[in-house]
Amino acid sequence: MTNSTRQHSAIEGQTAAPSSTLVIKDLHAKVEGKEILKGISLIINSGEIHAVMGPNGSGKSTLCKVLMGHPKYEVTKGSASLNGIDILDLEPNERANLGLFLGFQHPMEIAGVTLGNFLRLAKNAQIKSHNKDGQTIGPVEFMGTMKENLDLLKMDHKFIGRSVNEGFSGGERKRAEIAQMAILKPKISLLDEIDSGLDIDALKIVAKGIKDTFEKTNSGVLLVTHYQRILDYIEPNFVHVISDGKIAKSGGPELAHELEKTGYEQFENCKIVN
Ligand SMILES: Nc1ncnc2c1ncn2[C@@H]1O[C@H](COP(=O)(O)OP(=O)(O)OP(=O)(O)O)[C@@H](O)[C@H]1O
Ligand SMILES: [Mg+2]
Repeated sequence: MTNSTRQHSAIEGQTAAPSSTLVIKDLHAKVEGKEILKGISLIINSGEIHAVMGPNGSGKSTLCKVLMGHPKYEVTKGSASLNGIDILDLEPNERANLGLFLGFQHPMEIAGVTLGNFLRLAKNAQIKSHNKDGQTIGPVEFMGTMKENLDLLKMDHKFIGRSVNEGFSGGERKRAEIAQMAILKPKISLLDEIDSGLDIDALKIVAKGIKDTFEKTNSGVLLVTHYQRILDYIEPNFVHVISDGKIAKSGGPELAHELEKTGYEQFENCKIVN
């Protein structure tokens, strides 16, 4: 081995992230006394993109929120683990520290907290969770990382000084979610309708941000979407259809194309029932 190849392997060794697996088994959950998830089983490995589709109200966002630990949702049966660690009893921040990330369908405003501080504090919390003596990153030092990631999402640097999502357009909020993903480098990302509200160019930019992060970090992605469009840029390995709180069908990328033509009529119980 030459010096240069040895050096190259050493660098690769440093950057290659270990494999991760999210295992969801027979997950049932209810909210406000109503059962929404009725037995979801899914395994997401590093290097895999799973698209999750399905009619409105079928439980896609509920699945993401339950996995992230939203306090309103009660798990009544089943399990979920990340790299062998049961996540269902953990607080949302503990799940995030393990490497789980949720990009919200409707990202919330946080008045009085700038995007810059929010991203830096999130990154520092992650560093501290891995090593309590770890060196946190100061505002000046973090500026370069932040600008680089905002550039990836083609976001103006002025966003660094604005309150999180306050007055952000729908598309700007989605870009900010992916900037957060790019900075936190999660092991498994749950992206809930990250493509909704994006114009044609923004869709390409956000898709590139997701793909770059996915490829660089050896992560796994669960991508909830209603449309084939984003899947033209981020080709999924698997496509799943959730109907009435259950996975009604799984397949490859061709399933998304089929759904675009046929809709959800083939799936029973996909009507919204109160
Ligand atoms: N906090 C809540 N209180 C009452 N019902 C809720 C609550 N959260 C979710 N639900 C109900 O759970 C069902 C599933 O909602 P969910 O948001 O998971 O659907 P979805 O598949 O993400 O739909 P969409 O494609 O429209 O985003 C819906 O009938 C919804 O009204
Ligand atoms: Mg939803």
